[in-house]
Amino acid sequence: MNRAAVLCGLGTALPPRTVANAELAGQLDTSDAWIRSRTGIGERRVVDPGTATSDLAVEAGERALKSAGATGSGGSGGADAVIVATTTPDRRCPATAPLVAARLGLGTAPAFDLAAVCTGFLYGLAAAAGLIAAGTAGRVLVVGADTFSTLLDPADRSTRAIFGDGAGAVVLRAGDPAEPGALGPLDLGSDGTGSELITVPSGGSRDPLPGPEHDPYFRMAGKAVFRSAVERMSGSARSVLDRTGWDAPDLLVAHQANLRILHAVADRLGIARDRCAVNIDRVGNTAAASLPLALADAAGSGSLRPGDRVLLTAFGGGLTWGACALAWPALEAL
Ligand code: COA
Repeated sequence: MNRAAVLCGLGTALPPRTVANAELAGQLDTSDAWIRSRTGIGERRVVDPGTATSDLAVEAGERALKSAGATGSGGSGGADAVIVATTTPDRRCPATAPLVAARLGLGTAPAFDLAAVCTGFLYGLAAAAGLIAAGTAGRVLVVGADTFSTLLDPADRSTRAIFGDGAGAVVLRAGDPAEPGALGPLDLGSDGTGSELITVPSGGSRDPLPGPEHDPYFRMAGKAVFRSAVERMSGSARSVLDRTGWDAPDLLVAHQANLRILHAVADRLGIARDRCAVNIDRVGNTAAASLPLALADAAGSGSLRPGDRVLLTAFGGGLTWGACALAWPALEAL
């Protein structure tokens, strides 16, 4: 039998502290009006000192496992592999995923980090589907978790206006390609010639820290990234859509990078803007957590119902991008 990866649990975690645009405007040369009109963001969540990416990942992972148990069709038990997609691991070494697996009580399950920046969650779905298809794992926990606030230059208004912290996780189990929740067509891509457009210049083997001449902060060429994000997400989503046989999805869940980017992608695909999941106004760009947070928000608000045709797409540093389609399963997002 062709073993499909079936989404059967969804959980999220957001830090309690909300930072509204007005708070940033008190620290930087920016304004609520500028941020809202240029990005669609009103506020974002930010971790307090001492909270690491693994703390959010564990919280989201616990909820996803509980959600998978609560849906019945997810079966009981935990997961036999863990993937944590993140750009902000607790440490450069070791990976964050083994710690997350241990704190979730998953014993000696294989666990690894995945680095595809804001496309990390989609790459994680693809990696989990591969583990399941190969029979290496029967249930995989895929977590997208990031604390970009720990990576931003406090004086950089263009990045501080955009990014927020958060985590989202799903459980994928082996199942039938025809059942709701089964991951459908998937498309992934990368273009390393654009690696300088989204980058942390120092702190890697190319330019190790410490030293005053180094730049340890996240940097982004906003305009070029904007154009590339629209082009790559709409292209990838189109190629997946063509393989589904759907005229249009019921919901487009695109990486929450910028409301103008979301609308441009929807317009290019001929999808009505009101069929776009939007939570960027409340959480900003949460990088690898963006897609599962948007899915949970849509499911919680009733704009995503069991059986709905969902088209996911993301874009991020690397450059990387991807898209995937699935029929939404009956589950309770926690
Ligand atoms: N408040 C006020 N002004 C700001 C600002 C802020 N928070 N951020 C940038 N600006 C300024 C710039 O400094 C620039 O000023 P200048 O003309 O004096 O140099 C001006 O606004 C225009 O900058 P530009 O980059 O052309 O603006 P923009 O309309 O492209 O918006 C971004 C900037 C960052 C919001 C936009 O480029 C963007 O969203 N890019 C994609 C980001 C993204 O999605 N990243 C993640 C991908 S995974």
